Amino acid sequence: MGRRDSYTHAHAQRVAAYSRRLAIKAKLSVDMSRDITMGGMLHDLGKLALSDTIFSNKQAALSTEMIGEVRSHPLIGAALLQHIHCNANIYHAVLFHHERIDGSGYPFGLHGNEIPLAAKIVSIADCFDAITTDRPYQRRKSRRHAFALLDEMAGRCLDEALVRLMIEDVRIHGMEPIMPRLTVPHVSSDPR
Ligand SMILES: [Fe+2]
Repeated sequence: MGRRDSYTHAHAQRVAAYSRRLAIKAKLSVDMSRDITMGGMLHDLGKLALSDTIFSNKQAALSTEMIGEVRSHPLIGAALLQHIHCNANIYHAVLFHHERIDGSGYPFGLHGNEIPLAAKIVSIADCFDAITTDRPYQRRKSRRHAFALLDEMAGRCLDEALVRLMIEDVRIHGMEPIMPRLTVPHVSSDPR
């Protein structure tokens, strides 16, 4: 994924880290926390299948057709995971991370507790990282501004109790570092 879109690659790593922190903060089991971390890492796996037009588009506004394609990524990611018979929590995080508490999300428009816990956690981590990092079409917001935006979404889009835990955790432990873009080292074919 990193070769197609370096932002998506770094974003996946930070979402995994925030998801893990939130799972631990919510006192989930070691196994569940591990699954949720992996779900955070893989949440946008389906974006691998999106067309180059989407990746090269640096504008905020997408055509209706492009929006439809972007919105297919949770389904594509989940379909890819079915081939490896992965754990249900990881599968749920990938398939449902764009569902919203009030039913306004996609791809199914699930409400409240119809959304599995793993997906609720990854959604919060995903939103927080999207708000606090530079994207091609949007400058990052300050931590304070990000908390205000999360507050607005709490109970409407995102699980309210989990948002409170996320804000508390970031207040105490800070944000994940934004890593500089890494270049892939050249691997020599010389066996010596
Ligand atoms: Fe996504």
